[in-house]
This record gives sequence, C-alpha cells and structure tokens, in this order.
Amino acid sequence: MNRVKKLSGIIFLSVLMAGIFSCKNDSKEEEKQVAEVKVQKDEDYRPNFHFTPKKNWMNDPNGMFYLNGTYHLYFQYYPDDNVWGPMHWGHATSKDMITWEEQPIALFPDEKGYIFSGSAVVDRNNTSGFGEEGKTPVVAIFTYHEPEAAKEGKKDYQSQAIAYSLDEGQTWTKYEGNPVIPNPGIENFRDPKVIWDDINQQWLMALATTEKALFYTSQNLKDWKKLSEFGENTGAHDGVWECPDIFPMRVQGSDEQKWVLIQSLNPGGYNGGSGTQYFVGDFDGKEFTPVSGMEALEEKHPFWIDFGRDNYAGVTWSNIPDEDGRKLFLGWMSNWLYAEKVPTTTWRSSMTIARELKLIKEGDRYLLTSEPVEELKKYRGEKIQKKDIAVSGNTVVLDSEEVDLAKVEIRFNIKDLEATTYNFSLSNDGGEEFIISYNHPKKEFTMNRSHAGKNDFSDEFAAENSTAPRISDAQNLNAILIIDKTSIEMFFDNGKTVITEIFFPSQPWTDFSFTGLEDFRVDSLEAYELNFEKEEQNSEENREEEDI
Ligand code: FRU
Repeated sequence: MNRVKKLSGIIFLSVLMAGIFSCKNDSKEEEKQVAEVKVQKDEDYRPNFHFTPKKNWMNDPNGMFYLNGTYHLYFQYYPDDNVWGPMHWGHATSKDMITWEEQPIALFPDEKGYIFSGSAVVDRNNTSGFGEEGKTPVVAIFTYHEPEAAKEGKKDYQSQAIAYSLDEGQTWTKYEGNPVIPNPGIENFRDPKVIWDDINQQWLMALATTEKALFYTSQNLKDWKKLSEFGENTGAHDGVWECPDIFPMRVQGSDEQKWVLIQSLNPGGYNGGSGTQYFVGDFDGKEFTPVSGMEALEEKHPFWIDFGRDNYAGVTWSNIPDEDGRKLFLGWMSNWLYAEKVPTTTWRSSMTIARELKLIKEGDRYLLTSEPVEELKKYRGEKIQKKDIAVSGNTVVLDSEEVDLAKVEIRFNIKDLEATTYNFSLSNDGGEEFIISYNHPKKEFTMNRSHAGKNDFSDEFAAENSTAPRISDAQNLNAILIIDKTSIEMFFDNGKTVITEIFFPSQPWTDFSFTGLEDFRVDSLEAYELNFEKEEQNSEENREEEDI
C-alpha cells in the first residue's frame, strides 16, 4: 500500500470518528481533514489544460484560423446560461493551441437570427473587397438560425452569412448583403466550412444538410454557386449531418494527393449520439468522388476520426503557413446525449486537445490518423520511465505520488501481443475506476465508465460501455494517453484508433494500473506531468525525447 492510500485511509477513519464522536467538534485539524475528502464538483472539475469558457455554455469549435503567430478559436457560446441558448461566437486565442486566453465575444445574435457554426478565412488578396487601408480582411462564414421560423415548422430557417474583421479577428462587422446563401427550402442547412482551394483557384464551401454534404464555389466570398452534393448513399446516416470540413492532403511518404471530407453526425455516431466520420476521395474542382471501397460504407464502418463518445463537430484550422503544412484539428469534447446535464454549473463543456491529422495508405485503404500536436511536449515535466513491467493481477504502474494523474501524458508500448485481454484503468481511493479493455482476438477496445464517478445526471452517460475497433494489425500496441481532470484522450497505433471520453470522479485518480486475464509484459512506459504554470522550467531534453 502506498503512502497516498495509507493517508486517505487515515483521513477516512478520522472523518468517520469525527462523525461518530462529536458533531460539534470544531478543531482546525479535523476541519482540514473533512475538507480533504470533499467530493469534487464544479471548479474541481474544470480541466487543467483543455479549453473551457470561464462561464456558461459552449459547444462546437468555429472559425478557426491562424494569423501572425496566433491561433484563433471561436466557439458556439451562450453567455447567459449553462445550457444551450441563443448562439453567439465566443472567442479564444493561443500561441500554441494548448494554453488559451478567452477574448470578448466576437459575434452576437441579431434580428436575422442566432449565429450557428461556421468557419473563417484570411482573405489575403482582398477578393471580398472588405479590406481597407491595406488591412487584410478575415472573413467569417456562418449560419443564421431563425428560432421563430423553426418553431413555426417552416423549413427555410437557416441561411449562410458572412462578417469581416480588419483587426485580426478581434472585432467583426456583419455584411449588409446577408444572407449570402439564402435558404432554398431545405431543413437543416448549415455549418459552412470554407477553404481557399489553391488547386482549383476558388473559395470552396462544404455545407451540411440532413443526409449529405453540399459544395459551393465563390471568387469573392459573397456570391456563391452550388457545385455538387455528396454522401446520400454512403457512411453513417442515423441522424443529421452537421459541421463538415474538406481539404486536400498528401498521403504520408508519397506524392499522392487525396481529398478528405470530415463529416459529423448527430445522433448516429459510432457509439450512438454525436460522432465524426470521414471520407477520402478525389475532388475535380466540382465533385467529390470517394475512393473505391468508400462509395457505400455501412453504418458501422471503421472511418471515424475518433471512436469515443466525446469528440464532436471538430474541424481544421485555416491559413496554416505552407512552411508548417500541418492539418490541425480540434473538436468539442462532449456529446449531445448528455452535454447539457454534465455535473458542472459555472461552465459547461471543454474542447479536445489540438491534434495533427495525417493521411496514410495501408494496402489499398486510406486512413486518417490523429495525434496530439507537438506543442504539448513543451509543457512536459520530468520524464518517468519504466521498462519491462510484469503485469500479474492488478498491477499499479503509476500513482499520484509520482505524477499528477489529472494532467499527464502517458505513453506505453506492448510488444508481441499474445494475451487475450489487456486492461488498463484509472482508479481512486473512493473505489471508482475508468476501465479500458483491449480484447486482442476481437481486436476491440471497450470503455467502461459506469463506476468512474458521477453518472446519475443522465441515463445515457454510462449505461452502456463504448467500443472501438483496433484498426492496426501490428503485433505491437503503442498508446499515447492524454489525461486531464475529467477526460482521457487515447491514441493507439500512431493515431489509427483514437478514443476520447469524459468522466467525473468524486475524488482525483490515484492509480494507473494494468490487469488482464493472463499475465503479460508492458515493454516500456513513459509518463510526463504536464505543467502549465512553469513552462520555461520544463527541460529541453524532455521535448526532444524520442517517442516510444
Ligand atoms: C452541432 C450543431 C451545429 C449547429 C450548432 C448549434 O453541434 O448542432 O449543426 O450549427 O451545433 O449550436
């Protein structure tokens, strides 16, 4: 038994005795002990490093662009309550996509409607004509949602509109000619994602409607023409298609170029509720044609950007310089099944860690992988390294005395998979645990959060376990786990299977353990506490360390 466990045992006993022997005892010492076992809630649940608004409700990331050293993140925001309401665009900025500074609200609803999800582009050549005095306009493209029309049962309650900023995204002016794409009589007509399509020299928009993505083209961001549609006959459709993204990508290790269409849907995700699938194909400037094998994917296909329950509506940053060349992505770390009920009150929801997407080809299959952005490494504290760990029964490999399990990066590698089950878990002294099991013969991960703390706020949160297929056939399993107070993001096999899940333990996690039906060995494990206050103290050495 480690010191933490002993200590909490003592605390537990003292609390019990305090309760039995004297309700009136007000000695300072006992007050302190009682305080130490208090159940976590609200501010205790605020993530250490994932973005949350200071106050109230947030959902989708919006308008993500990079300019002059700053990453911008806008988000669906309701500043007056901790549940969804009249949508604004909140705003946050960052130098590295990891630590964020909340900015004043960027876009407010008006007489034309709420401001729903959308994107932003840097209009370098002033094609829109919004530029003045040599200032480069940044143009936001969003959906107007008319709540009254929607309530009256009309179909045409959503349209696309634009706004521009001449001060690098701080303040915005809505275009007087809005909407730029009026509603053509289609219900669910929203979430425009615009890119500069350099190959075809056009502004290209992907838009979502119930069962498909629509593509539009423009030369000036004001006049739009419909090009084509995609998706009615392929992929998951057990809900409404929302928040698309489209972009060209080079296949790793080759000169081949393909196009990727990211397509969220709700409900109907891999584990029910909200989820984000993707398609790989070719785009000739007008039409998106999926690669062979992706023309008629079944509902439960393997092409999801994240198989977990808590990564939705994610899209990529625009205007990343060519010298950088990365595709950078971030999603909303929640699920419409329970997002409005999670046990926080001052704020609700956080974003995922920023991720780098890569397109790879294995055999004749194209896969989109994701891993945490490199920038996270500069927050690493000391390296903890363990090699050749023998797992027999429940084996604690890290505890909260060695590393704070509420802000940690753990990497491990298991070679020569031979056992049937590999379980790993986070647990605390209150008997709560979050368990991930990998069943090797089935090539399937299962996530169980039914005893991981508070879950009675929703019937949907933990009633069933979630699952994810292992995409890789490799004999070695490698993992990167990014753990915050209320979330775990798991990247297996260099980001081929990604799983993001949230939880609300009543006390912080104290142990990270492995167990299985048979004994096995973990060949290597590294852990780094992530420190956000003293960035400069983190050693150079740890940043450059070869990953396992
Ligand atoms: C996705 C979504 C979008 C919409 C926004 C409204 O989570 O439903 O389709 O624009 O949220 O807040």
